[in-house]
Amino acid sequence: MNWTREKLIEAYIDFFKKKRHKEIPNVSLIPREDPTVLFTTAGMHPLILFLLGQKHPLGKRLVNNQKCIRTTDIEEVGDENHLTFFEMLGNWSLGDYWKKEAIEFSFEFLTKILKIPKQKLTITCFKGDFKNHIPKDTESAKIWQKLGIKKSQIRFLGKEENWWGPAGKTGPCGPDTEMFFQGSEIWNDVFMQYNKDKQGRYKELSQKNVDTGMGVERTLAVLQGKKSVYETL
Ligand code: ALA
Repeated sequence: MNWTREKLIEAYIDFFKKKRHKEIPNVSLIPREDPTVLFTTAGMHPLILFLLGQKHPLGKRLVNNQKCIRTTDIEEVGDENHLTFFEMLGNWSLGDYWKKEAIEFSFEFLTKILKIPKQKLTITCFKGDFKNHIPKDTESAKIWQKLGIKKSQIRFLGKEENWWGPAGKTGPCGPDTEMFFQGSEIWNDVFMQYNKDKQGRYKELSQKNVDTGMGVERTLAVLQGKKSVYETL
């Protein structure tokens, strides 16, 4: 398969539609629903209320491709895999499936649809934050191992690396598991089960959500055998 941006996006959306996800549209880079950020930095902004428990009209499983602007890693922009503007594919569980299904979907898409050999993947999982009573994510590591990822391919890292959100100062957040190909993070599955409040405390959300993000340009670089996202076609 000669992968292009369009084919990758189509394959992803189709894959998750077959897993009973409903497609939601890309939204503006100026966030309307989330006052905590200046730009849409991820697909989660238009979904904040639904991550907090409100019922989404299209159900509990969603899929999208969202344009994003990120400035937090501006110092790294210009290396092989950082961009200020990028597209992010995402599948969402709003209080529906949890770690097992999320990781199984990621594994199946990477190895069966994109045909990336499992031996070439490196995985990271959250090592825990004991100060805030957030445990080490051994559950995710075990799920990866059951799928055939070797223990030596899995590393446990801390909050700097394996934690997503909140995008602003408060809001939904949680540990994640990340998928790398030759050192480049191409996808992460975030297990959003906390809400960070103004005092900096982490409270369990009323529902457990999954928020994943696959970088279109980074994944395309892998599929097209390019060293850098800037070389993708
Ligand atoms: N919200 C997560 C991210 O942007 C998936 O990486």
